[in-house]
Amino acid sequence: MTNEYFKKVLVVGSGNVGVLLAYALVSSSTRPSVYVLVRNPQYLKLFRDEGIKIITADGTSLRLEGVHFISYDDLRKIGLFDLIIVATKAYDSLEAVKQVREFLGSGGVLVTCQNGLRSYEEALEILGPSKTATMVLNHGVYRVGNREFKWIGGSTSYLGGKGISRELLSSIASLLEVLSVQVVDDIEPYRWLKLAVNAAINPLTALYEVKNKLIIIDENLFKIATMVVAETQRVAEKYGVVMPVDPLKEVVRVAEATGENYSSMLQDIIWGKRTEVDYINGEVVVRGRRAGVLTPVNEVLWLMIKYKESLKRMT
Ligand code: PAF
Repeated sequence: MTNEYFKKVLVVGSGNVGVLLAYALVSSSTRPSVYVLVRNPQYLKLFRDEGIKIITADGTSLRLEGVHFISYDDLRKIGLFDLIIVATKAYDSLEAVKQVREFLGSGGVLVTCQNGLRSYEEALEILGPSKTATMVLNHGVYRVGNREFKWIGGSTSYLGGKGISRELLSSIASLLEVLSVQVVDDIEPYRWLKLAVNAAINPLTALYEVKNKLIIIDENLFKIATMVVAETQRVAEKYGVVMPVDPLKEVVRVAEATGENYSSMLQDIIWGKRTEVDYINGEVVVRGRRAGVLTPVNEVLWLMIKYKESLKRMT
């Protein structure tokens, strides 16, 4: 069986999220051709020569089969894609969209898949609502070696796009069935819910270099997380967004479910990379300012992470 709309798919980015999406796509019963754009030439060679391993929550080790790892120069030879999923870090997504837009076929769709806010808005501005969708991915995956990734599982993820038919969105969701992706009419409440969770868990775990569960074990960290969530909720409400569930309960649920893991922000700090704090707590602050809502706790965490990042950054 083939997918009527999306036969040729490009995943931009070969980090944790890109690898997980490529795995989901090649596992799909509709078997699209899957290409992964790898920016770093050393990783490109490594992945081509030795492949990628995915270790699932129960410890099973799977080889990622059937994916074409390509460079930017290869794109021109391959032609147009029906679906492009941008799975870069948030701070790279705008540049990535600009680079790949010419490779999106006429009826094609581009999906952004980043933590925080802003990447979707930027892509929308470039491609317009009839070609742009976004996904809120609620899965945990992290790198345990140069070519090994641990996928700890996750919960329902959400896909939406203001100007794209439900049929097309459902077709994309069906390609990602192993990630249980649900199509929603309004994606904003889900984006803000994930934002609140990330704004509370990520900077605190990154600052103190602790596992996610510490947010609910330590009463002082939990108090700070509660303040972060309350500020984020106030900003969301000013924009008319009502989150689908209580965001503090969601923080507790996620911190419990991912208790033994290190947040993506802490992993970035450990690997000496830039973090996504500008798109998480930074966006809460910027949008709060625009709407006249004070967000001092988010702002302090934002500044503290920026300082910590500057101490550790190697790239
Ligand atoms: O960014 C992350 O690490 C994850 O989104 C989350 C939910 C905080 C779990 O680690």
